[in-house]
Amino acid sequence: MSKPARVLVTPALPYANGAIHLGHLVEHIQVNTYVRALRMAGDDVLYVCGADSHGAPIEIAAKKQQVAPEVYVEQVRAQQEATFARFHVAFDGGYGSTHTPENERHAGRFYAALKAAGHVVTKEVEQLQDPTDGRFLADRFVKGTCPRCGAADQYGDACENCNTTYRPTDLVKPYSVITGATPVLGKSTHYMLTLGAYGERLQSYLGDATVLHPSLRNFLDKWFADGLKDWDISRDGPYFGFKIPGEDNKYFYVWLDAPIGYVSLSERALATRGDASSSWESWWRDPSVRVEHFIGKDILYFHTLFWPAMLMATGDTLPRAIHVHGMLTVDGVKMSKSRGTFLNADDFAAVCEPQALRYYFAAKMSAEPQDIDLSFVDFTNRVNADLVNNVVNLVSRTVPMLHRSFDSKPVTMPDDLTGLVTEAQDLAPRVLAHYRALDTAAVIREVTALGSKANKLLQDTAPWDLLRTDAPRAHAVLTTALFVGKTCLALLKPVLPDVAAKLAGILGVAPFTFENAADPLVVGRAINPYERLFERLDLKALQGLIKPVDAPAPTTNAVTSAAPKADKSDAKKAEAKKKVEPLPPPAEITFDDFAKVDLRAAKIMQANAVEGSDKLIHVKADVGALGVREIFTGLRPHVQPEQLQGRIVVVCANLAPRKMAKFGTSHGMILAAGEPPCPLFVDAAKPGDRVS
Ligand code: MSP
Ligand code: ZN
Repeated sequence: MSKPARVLVTPALPYANGAIHLGHLVEHIQVNTYVRALRMAGDDVLYVCGADSHGAPIEIAAKKQQVAPEVYVEQVRAQQEATFARFHVAFDGGYGSTHTPENERHAGRFYAALKAAGHVVTKEVEQLQDPTDGRFLADRFVKGTCPRCGAADQYGDACENCNTTYRPTDLVKPYSVITGATPVLGKSTHYMLTLGAYGERLQSYLGDATVLHPSLRNFLDKWFADGLKDWDISRDGPYFGFKIPGEDNKYFYVWLDAPIGYVSLSERALATRGDASSSWESWWRDPSVRVEHFIGKDILYFHTLFWPAMLMATGDTLPRAIHVHGMLTVDGVKMSKSRGTFLNADDFAAVCEPQALRYYFAAKMSAEPQDIDLSFVDFTNRVNADLVNNVVNLVSRTVPMLHRSFDSKPVTMPDDLTGLVTEAQDLAPRVLAHYRALDTAAVIREVTALGSKANKLLQDTAPWDLLRTDAPRAHAVLTTALFVGKTCLALLKPVLPDVAAKLAGILGVAPFTFENAADPLVVGRAINPYERLFERLDLKALQGLIKPVDAPAPTTNAVTSAAPKADKSDAKKAEAKKKVEPLPPPAEITFDDFAKVDLRAAKIMQANAVEGSDKLIHVKADVGALGVREIFTGLRPHVQPEQLQGRIVVVCANLAPRKMAKFGTSHGMILAAGEPPCPLFVDAAKPGDRVS
């Protein structure tokens, strides 16, 4: 027998400063399903993860709670581990942390290699500093208005509205998130990694379509075209992290030691193996090992540029694949705290069987890095119709009947049904290939299609009636339907591990593998009584999870939290629900209807906040041949007037003039997109250009 393939699989390391939410679970369910499938096929998989424990946010959160950062991150880590366990996610060596001696040692090793290669330089960096305590305000501790789109309250590194990245010093009207003070510019020496030195090697490495999904190529092309910038890998104290060797008050930036966690977590997990492959080198320095990372789109830069460059410096194995998934949306909109759709994983598990979420995400995911939408209506329908009423039904209907009428024993499957049996047998290798290709959507599609055929057989034969007139035939059909149901659920074991284990128990068979998934039931050997495999989902209980910020938070761990409580916040909840209910799709219009809308590019010549209104901005816009228009826009909560100055926007130019209370009349409307809305800027257009 050939040696099993060795695969090292990692999800990203969640920050140790908050609870696991459903967004994290998109990734963890995808990875865990993949790992379970590989193991079920006999591969040797090392599967590690831990909390990303360093950084300024963690240092500050700990200070706020008046505990040492070590204590704080350990609390969060333990809580995250417990949450993962509820979703059947557990890692080799346990759920670890990046704040360990092993990780510090590996960080030192990487740093030394980068330095020896001459790729670490120092540089005076101008940085915002909080005037109240002298703290350098790195990353996310300065907020202000996005210099690009004008969205207010954006972090110092990137705008969540338009996805532009910038430096904190680029922010308009910056303020310290910690004290609210206006920061001042200070100077400090920083260590920089000269990423450009790796440009060519990175470009050729990432050009391989098996490493990175080709649809992400355009991001990379742009980064390479812009030129790879030096990467600032140090932070001044106060900071929680590893001290830079030879420095007193400088630390490695969290993103330097975070991916190194993949190596140190491997080392920890391997310590318990005790065989020839128990050293970290045997996984990270053996090119036959496939290192595969799973990440969200948002951390692509770190994993495609910084991390491979670091690995090139040490000579450790480069990832064979960087699998990228999209972001979770709820009812089509990014998860949001104010909408109450930032769904906490423990709260979710308190009202819903966690395997249902595994099933739903599996049904929606493939290797494509597209966003994944969770709609509770669609979720409930799919789980109840495709899983409970279809695949699970094949077991829940047949097992009790076999018990009642046939001494609990399967019989030989009849010749005229070999078509269905062969189909089930042929499915196993195909399903494994889908799992390997991360195409769980195809797994679910194929398995439920087979399940439907067996359900049709049950419906058409109606063994519950037939057993009075033709018991042998009824017996044979029940056995065949149970066989198909068993094969389906065996093939879904990576997605529904508990259901599969329970079913193996009912049938009294060994744990399912791809080899045995389609084995026939043993004729004449009694099976055990039916145990409930899956509950139908309750849409109401799920919808109760969506609580906008001003409503009381759900109580974690209380199963009863789903029960509607008649309290005075009910009215508020109803109100809130109204807000999150998805809008019905707009009625269709004809092309002629559309052609009636006159959309034009317009240059904003003047923009002023309207006194007496917190919403309105008064704009004078040049619409080319259509002249200068006065327009009132309600974008004040999202855009500073000065951010509009000189920009080209899209306006609807033939909207009937509209009186704006006491302020004046608006002659047109500025179009915006997104959440929060940001004006559509079309700076390449000329005033008056038609938008079509
Ligand atoms: N700590 C870093 C990762 C370091 S890896 C060396 C980090 N942590 S995170 O907690 O913010 O995110 C962890 C993972 O969860 C990332 O891959 C991220 O893309 C993913 N997700 C976080 N929110 C998500 C959604 N809303 N939707 C889908 N995935 C999401 O980044
Ligand atoms: Zn922006």
